[in-house]
Amino acid sequence: HVYPPAYYRLFLLHESLPLSSYGFFFRLVFYLLLFQGYVCYFSTSPRRHTKFYTDPVEAVKDIPNDATILVGGFGLCGIPENLIGALLMTGVKGLTAVSNNAGVDNFGLGLLLRSKQIKRMVSSYVGENAEFERQYLSGELEVELTPQGTLAERIRAGGAGVPAFYTSTGYGTLVQEGGSPIKYNKDGSIAIASKPREVREFNGQHFILEEAITGDFALVKAWKADRAGNVIFRKSARNFNLPMCKAATTTVVEVEEIVDIGSFAPEDIHIPQIYVHRLIKGEKYEKRIERLSIRKEGDGKAKSGKPGDDVRERIIKRAALEFEDGMYANLGIGIPLLASNFISPNMTVHLQSENGVLGLGPYPLQHEADADLINAGKETVTVLPGASFFSSDESFAMIRGGHVNLTMLGAMQVSKYGDLANWMIPGKMVKGMGGAMDLVSSPKTKVVVTMEHSAKGNAHKIMEKCTLPLTGKQCVNRIITEKAVFDVDKKKGLTLIELWEGLTVEDVQKSTGCDFAVSPKLMPMKQITN
Ligand SMILES: *[C@@H]1O[C@H](CO)[C@@H](O)[C@H](O)[C@H]1NC(C)=O
Ligand SMILES: *[C@@H]1O[C@H](CO)[C@@H](O)[C@H](O)[C@H]1NC(C)=O
Repeated sequence: HVYPPAYYRLFLLHESLPLSSYGFFFRLVFYLLLFQGYVCYFSTSPRRHTKFYTDPVEAVKDIPNDATILVGGFGLCGIPENLIGALLMTGVKGLTAVSNNAGVDNFGLGLLLRSKQIKRMVSSYVGENAEFERQYLSGELEVELTPQGTLAERIRAGGAGVPAFYTSTGYGTLVQEGGSPIKYNKDGSIAIASKPREVREFNGQHFILEEAITGDFALVKAWKADRAGNVIFRKSARNFNLPMCKAATTTVVEVEEIVDIGSFAPEDIHIPQIYVHRLIKGEKYEKRIERLSIRKEGDGKAKSGKPGDDVRERIIKRAALEFEDGMYANLGIGIPLLASNFISPNMTVHLQSENGVLGLGPYPLQHEADADLINAGKETVTVLPGASFFSSDESFAMIRGGHVNLTMLGAMQVSKYGDLANWMIPGKMVKGMGGAMDLVSSPKTKVVVTMEHSAKGNAHKIMEKCTLPLTGKQCVNRIITEKAVFDVDKKKGLTLIELWEGLTVEDVQKSTGCDFAVSPKLMPMKQITN
């Protein structure tokens, strides 16, 4: 054990003496006697802010029914496994769980859903869980879907004493308009609908008012804590854990290791002890990997789509030409990420992943796969030299703040003026918007959509007005399909700039649901050659 030095002990004692005027007098006398050497003060158990536990059930047993708990993690990365296990033991019910995801059927928060201990989830993406879907659609579970960056910032604001803030994320979508189902009735009608948001304009841009989130308890998973209660996280497992530490009345942190004070330098601490009320070393960690993605030795590139899929290949090889040297880019899973395989070796493109990574590398070799290092698609990844890790609130500050040069993502529909729909088909199970609404929220970030030109049955995907709920309004700058490339202007509409060889402008017009201008410099559709 490391004991505090003498002056620190004196300070502790000073703090523990009564505060009344009588106490003040008592203290004065005490110090005089201490200085004269008449009394000697020694303490073997300094009073600490952070309480250390050994039994996870003890650490959470006072969480009452109907409490709001903030649960850290992104997918299954950095989830408080031992504390979730303890809640299964205490049997607490009626919980409101604020967590980016809902675990999977038999792991993470999925376990508490299965035992019906959760009444409401506040999440951005809940796609991986069949029991979740059943409970939601049958009206047993309430679900408040919140864009990922808004969720992170609402929690950050909660911890920082900011009651609400304006964000451009979600403007012109269901998030702003309200009315999306939080709870269904047994007959499938809506029992509780989301509330509309206040809108305000600043410098010609629209923003919506979002309220802070605070919790009664935060359940957090960190890597190491020192004996003073300071905490550090590992790799991309920082995610929502960091802002959640600050936003609850009682923060309970489980770690893999408790180390002596001084084991990490004060400047390397991610969460100062002031936010940490309870600490426990987790008994064991399964650290399950949700999507193991690996590359083979000698194979620099990840596998691209199915062989012989030329439509996809064509879009990928055109999308790859969007990268510029020195650019920061956030790429959606699928075609955008596959396009990054074609980035020429003489070019540096920094890939950002919204779960808190800048400088993503290729998929790991089998032995390198690490549960604490995943991308936003929950796939195992690596990082390149010069990479950095940060929390979800930081990541979305980067995104919303317009520091990322390029966002490339898929779409279900794009309108003539650049409205984007890619997160919800009404009547089908809604998995959540994840970070998509935030990723298209900054006018400083170029938004490139990669998608097949038409949907199944030749339904139009490029159209006058989207019929599906929007992800963002007038946010798309370019559309790349297997037939054509369009530039999008939010006032003037579409301009055809490239055309796949063998196709005519009329062919493209037939498969496009709105009119478009044709660039005087119309070119054959380009393809990367390396
Ligand atoms: C990326 O954006 C920054 C400013 O946000 C800008 O200075 C820089 O030139 C951009 N880089 C590229 C390659 O577009
Ligand atoms: C990289 O090399 C290609 C040719 O292989 C060239 O066209 C391109 O301009 C180069 N880019 C930079 C940034 O040097």
